[in-house]
Amino acid sequence: MKLNIAVLPGDGIGPEVTAQAVKVLKAIAMEFNHVFTFDYGLVGASAIDKTGIPLPEATISTCEKADAVLFGAIGNTKYDIDPNTKIRPEQGLLGLRKTLDLYTNIRPVIAYEDLLNKSSLKKSQIKDTNILIYRELTSGIYFGEKKLSEDGNTASDICQYTRHEIERIAHLAFQAAQSRKRKLTLVDKANVLESSRLWRRIVQELAPQYPDVKVTYMYIDNAAMELIIKPRQFDVILTENMFGDILSEEASVIVGSIGLLASASIGKDHAMFEPIHGAYTKAANKGIANPIASILSAAMLLDHFGLDDEAALIREAVDKSLKLHITTPDLNTKYDNITTTKVGDFIEDFINNPDETNLN
Ligand code: IPM
Repeated sequence: MKLNIAVLPGDGIGPEVTAQAVKVLKAIAMEFNHVFTFDYGLVGASAIDKTGIPLPEATISTCEKADAVLFGAIGNTKYDIDPNTKIRPEQGLLGLRKTLDLYTNIRPVIAYEDLLNKSSLKKSQIKDTNILIYRELTSGIYFGEKKLSEDGNTASDICQYTRHEIERIAHLAFQAAQSRKRKLTLVDKANVLESSRLWRRIVQELAPQYPDVKVTYMYIDNAAMELIIKPRQFDVILTENMFGDILSEEASVIVGSIGLLASASIGKDHAMFEPIHGAYTKAANKGIANPIASILSAAMLLDHFGLDDEAALIREAVDKSLKLHITTPDLNTKYDNITTTKVGDFIEDFINNPDETNLN
């Protein structure tokens, strides 16, 4: 298969982890006789530094032309100091999501057997957790009208959803549940928010089209607690933009490190694959960033194109690296010399030679 992949390494640890994912994709291309080409673009703080804006036109056009986008990370702590800053790195990511209409963000949360002791939660509590979070990504409070009064003392962000925006992701979440444990939990705040009541009404309306899926409804505050105390109860979680952002980051506690969580952002015409972690500026260029989330995002990219064996091989390599403790310091207690590149090298070697790869 021929795939042209736009690569946007972004900021902080983004370039380091993305380099490992690209290396892994190149190994896959070689092993399975695919032709993957990579076109690089600027986004976020690094784009602001070079062009003055977080999402240059050239980047948009690279992404629009590509079959898929591989995204690194975005943000820089220097922008967090002044709340009056008008141009922010995050606008690059949000702009891309909106421009490419990537309305469904899929975030798998899997408790790896070999990492159960890395979580601060009890092993018995998290064992066998396997959740897919379907987060709406192009609407809600992130994109609603924003206002600041002239005197600077009143501000608002509107949380608005349309039927169309809810229906299109809800169908995908129902279908995902059908291919898994057939459980869908809508997480909302329908006891307070009108927009949440619209979500609930629409999901209730669609449910009869998926009679094999058991639908439950949970308020976000309760879900935040249930996710920690009984994560196994969840199969597919469907939720709006901001609740999904917060819940998925919370879920990383189950997995043991946010450096493991990958995601796919899917629209009708485009798809982007990105780790859920941020730019982690202070860890940049130290070789300590965990590249697994980026590498697993590359596996999700391959899934998207039906390259199942290829994606499975990446996941097998990742499992093996975790089993052998070939992991960065966020997870490792055994070796202190495993760098970002070393993890990528191990996974690359495993792909080239699955039967013989061990730690050298
Ligand atoms: C994420 C991030 C982004 C979000 C930020 C960087 C804008 O936290 O992808 O989860 O809030 O969506």
